[in-house]
Amino acid sequence: MIRRLFRTKPIEQILADADHPTHRLKKTLTAWDLTCLGIGAIIGTGIFVLIGTAIVGDAHRPGAGPGIILSFVLSGLTCALAALCYAEMSAMIPVAGSAYTFSYATLGELLAWLTGWNLILEYGVACVAVAIGWSGYFNNLLRLAGIELPHWATHPPGGTEGGVANIPAAIIVLLVTVILVIGIKESARMTGIVVVIKLAVILFFIGIGSTSLDSSNWSPFMPQGFAGVGAAAAIVFFAYIGFDAVSTAAEEATNPKRDVPIGIIGSLTVCTILYIAVATVLTGLVPAGQIDIHAPVAEALQVVGFKWGAAVVAIGAVAGITSVLVVMMLGQIRVFFAMSRDRLLGPWLSVVHPRFGTPHRATILTGVAVAVLSAFIPIGEAADMTNIGTFFAFVLVCIGVIILRHTNPDHPRPFRLPFMPLVPILATIACLWLMWQLPALTWIRFGVWTVIGILIYLGYGLKQSKLAALEPTPSLVCPEKQP
Ligand code: ALA
Repeated sequence: MIRRLFRTKPIEQILADADHPTHRLKKTLTAWDLTCLGIGAIIGTGIFVLIGTAIVGDAHRPGAGPGIILSFVLSGLTCALAALCYAEMSAMIPVAGSAYTFSYATLGELLAWLTGWNLILEYGVACVAVAIGWSGYFNNLLRLAGIELPHWATHPPGGTEGGVANIPAAIIVLLVTVILVIGIKESARMTGIVVVIKLAVILFFIGIGSTSLDSSNWSPFMPQGFAGVGAAAAIVFFAYIGFDAVSTAAEEATNPKRDVPIGIIGSLTVCTILYIAVATVLTGLVPAGQIDIHAPVAEALQVVGFKWGAAVVAIGAVAGITSVLVVMMLGQIRVFFAMSRDRLLGPWLSVVHPRFGTPHRATILTGVAVAVLSAFIPIGEAADMTNIGTFFAFVLVCIGVIILRHTNPDHPRPFRLPFMPLVPILATIACLWLMWQLPALTWIRFGVWTVIGILIYLGYGLKQSKLAALEPTPSLVCPEKQP
């Protein structure tokens, strides 16, 4: 039994499965496309919305105040270390499924399943937070245009601000779901355009905001001490999630060995620099206590009198966050596809629609679940669950890189991370430390989620998995068009 739980999938088999003509994904993405895909997935709700809660704090944690600048540095460094591990893994095993596939090659089936199960938090639940963030800016935009949606229709139930449901959040998810089911032909180009809009809006904010800075706003720098900075670092980690979406698309890269590391490290570097600049300008514009938690970046410009600037930022945020939603939903569908290909999930999930050629069932399942959750839960809770699941997946990838150097020392590694094993060890410690900063309630929920995952694996995957059956896979077809 123990041996079955820890059976690994040989790298050669992973590569061969991915290359099987019936379910081979088209290889069309270049280094530029991958960097765009990364930036498209990274810049969104984290920097536009969650930065507000991270600065101010909430019922579960202290805020960082201007110390948020340091929080972004801490979180960015953690991601940079983890990104090096992702880059080595994904250049070596360039197939769909990201951390899930890597764990299958190194840590065995049970941990691979648990990684995939946590990627549902990283992608699926992240979509919930992203959609709620979108709704915050959408409402802000309507307000700037003089339209006020009723409070009950824009807030989830519970808490001091309780409403009935966040209806705009649910609607945007359902619209994206319909688009993904029908299939988007020009989506790679669209992603490129939206990435340019997003970068332009961020640079616009930094440029225009820096004309009205007041240095007294930066003091006290850490009003709640280092505890606030640490807690905020664990929230804004959300803002970096997405660089690993590049590795989920590794199988579709024309030259994955060179381009995937460029895509991962390039997109992360660009975003880290921009985030630190945004945090510096935002906290210099408005006193920390007055920062808005729904649309902090646009509101800050409005507070200092740039109403038109606020509108520009809100439009950019709405467009930019929509692209994150698309990429994260596609990420979730790819993970379902990889798990279904290994028969750890039912094969019905990767069935392709006869007319649209998209995996409509996985898409609709993801879309409906995300829409319902985004209507009824607060953004902070969705972000915390996303982060804890992602930290877990990162830790497994970092440990996996070390294991693979020992178990497969001779397998070609087009990208070798430097200072082995220091980098993965530091990455693991940093992830665990940030994970530790999350509220106790998040840990309890994570425990329950993990137990449910293990039960599903024991009841289904253990018996059904392809490794268990050791028989050829019935035909699976490419699940989706390129983003
Ligand atoms: N990093 C992505 C965002 O902030 C998930 O929206």
